[in-house]
Amino acid sequence: MPERLIRANALPRHVAIIMDGNGRWAERRGLDRNEGHRAGIAAVRAAVRAAHELGIPQLTLYAFSTENWSRPKLEVDALMGLLDHYLEAEIEEIDRNGIQVRAMGRLERLPRPVRAKLERAICRTRDNREMVILFALSYGGRTEIVDAARRIAREVEQGKLDPEQVDEKIFSEYLYTPDLPDPDLLIRTGGESRVSNFLLWQIAYAEIHVTDVMWPDFRKSDLVEAIVSYQNRERRYGLISAQVRGNRASPLEPQAGSPLEPQAGSPLEPQAVSPLEPQAASPLDPRAPGSASPEDGNDA
Ligand code: FPP
Repeated sequence: MPERLIRANALPRHVAIIMDGNGRWAERRGLDRNEGHRAGIAAVRAAVRAAHELGIPQLTLYAFSTENWSRPKLEVDALMGLLDHYLEAEIEEIDRNGIQVRAMGRLERLPRPVRAKLERAICRTRDNREMVILFALSYGGRTEIVDAARRIAREVEQGKLDPEQVDEKIFSEYLYTPDLPDPDLLIRTGGESRVSNFLLWQIAYAEIHVTDVMWPDFRKSDLVEAIVSYQNRERRYGLISAQVRGNRASPLEPQAGSPLEPQAGSPLEPQAVSPLEPQAASPLDPRAPGSASPEDGNDA
């Protein structure tokens, strides 16, 4: 789909992608599943470039779920190898383009060399401000919510937090990336309409675009198609169409004081902290949300 169909003044601030279909792409070609993952790397490169060129400030990629650890060891090893290779091969271009790399999930489960490379990429790019690419690695949406609940419970126990204070805004501050806006647009490739434990809290009001394109074939025109589809929707946030139309000039821009005025943490809320601001001293600091394991007794 041609890029000129996109309205530059109504871009999604945050696009999240469930990159599905690598295995089927390979199997249809009589190839090993891992060849599909290998081909998926080219699609990751293309998606990052395309998002940057289109001016999307935040791209989140579901690269490896907590459930993916249960795949055959050879496949898990291949995926870790590809991640390692990707970080090595792409960091130059990512950094040159002013893109900040971040990661969230149970990162302590990643093989040490991959963690080290990830940490280097995050440190190297932490001051970049053009765009954020967030890799969800060893990530599960339910785990993220459980981790947040544990941290809240601990703070209540220590008398640092009053349970009556805990509302949606406070709760979302305990998630892995409280400083990033919620996704406006969630894309899933591979044709299946599932959320697969991805960003369960944050996608409350995301627009969902499912495409039959298998991830290894996903290119800029597919991202453009998803954005155009997003721009043709009316985001009602639980209201009715007349309210949305009556209360604001654009469905994406609620007016102050209107029922559409966003709650903190919603896709419309200007974030107190810049979405480009890294959140912890060390990106894989075990004290940083999303990188520590409660089993380790860390504060995650
Ligand atoms: C789902 O396809 C995809 C994954 C489990 C991993 C995605 C990984 C990559 C694209 C490569 C490495 C990533 C980065 C960020 C460098 P699937 O295997 O479930 O496909 P299927 O549904 O056809 O079986």
